Amino acid sequence: MGSGIAQVAATAGFPTLVRDVGDAVLAKGRSAISRSLDKLAEKGKLDGATRDGALTRLSFTTDLGALRSCDLVIEAVVEDLELKNALWRELDVLCPPATIFASNTSSLTIGEMASATARPDRFVGLHFFNPVPLMPLVEVIRGVTTSPETFDVAMKFARRLGKEPVVSRDRSGFIVNLLLVPYLLDAVRALERGAGSIADIDRGMQLGCGHPMGPFTLLDFVGLDTTARIAEIMFQEYREPRYAPPPLLRRMVTAGMHGRKTGRGFYDYATDPPTPLDPGL
Ligand code: CAA
Repeated sequence: MGSGIAQVAATAGFPTLVRDVGDAVLAKGRSAISRSLDKLAEKGKLDGATRDGALTRLSFTTDLGALRSCDLVIEAVVEDLELKNALWRELDVLCPPATIFASNTSSLTIGEMASATARPDRFVGLHFFNPVPLMPLVEVIRGVTTSPETFDVAMKFARRLGKEPVVSRDRSGFIVNLLLVPYLLDAVRALERGAGSIADIDRGMQLGCGHPMGPFTLLDFVGLDTTARIAEIMFQEYREPRYAPPPLLRRMVTAGMHGRKTGRGFYDYATDPPTPLDPGL
């Protein structure tokens, strides 16, 4: 998601610095941005000058210290509170007091991260949706300590990116995942119970409800590992069975079937179109 967020920021005219842990991941992000910008330009959704401008506004680094020059830092690391907070503590020392911190977390709370820093008033949630360049929504999350000024900057920033912000309370899952995650988990439970095949459940929700992707295609798209992690965090927060990751999802994650990114999930992506996999029920 980090590359998508960087892409929309640079396209909107912001000089954008992308920081990641290694050169190989940075190179992967850079080429994903380039491909995406080319695709949007090919389809006439972006003119050539805007695409070229976005590319010139982007820079890439592995040096965390380089972020000290930024007015806004948006974090998009995996959903692991310890990892995120270790990063925030380092950034809190490196960045000037005026720098605003924003997390793209999908299931942790802003309060849990804001309290790890000495700037809880300049901490806010900016939750984007995949694929970031195409999805118009950003959830803006006001933590209990977020100042009105910080919140205002976050709303204006989301609009400057051409996104439509919705305001969410600081509760795990915010608005969209609060509803989307139980739906995705229910699809896995429906499969476990033999309600229908992967392909038919997907087609059912696409054709019967007008969803652009069926739940298994979406699970593969978001990542089974990511979904299981989000579900686990939401289950910890609410202790409601609807958020508990079903056994099949856990088994697939353990087996390395994480969806599109590993080539296998509910579908096998070695074929075109992808073939539904028998998850061994
Ligand atoms: N940049 C540029 N172009 C892109 C792109 C990207 N990142 N990703 C896809 N495209 C292109 C495709 O390549 C395709 O191009 P062609 O028409 O030339 O083939 C075009 O966009 C449209 O793609 P599709 O033909 O697949 O058409 P689509 O109408 O299905 O649109 C979609 C794709 C927008 C992804 C749509 O399927 C969709 O909305 N899916 C649901 C996505 C969703 O629910 N996202 C939220 C996930 S939850 C989340 O992100 C939050 C969380 O915390 C878990």
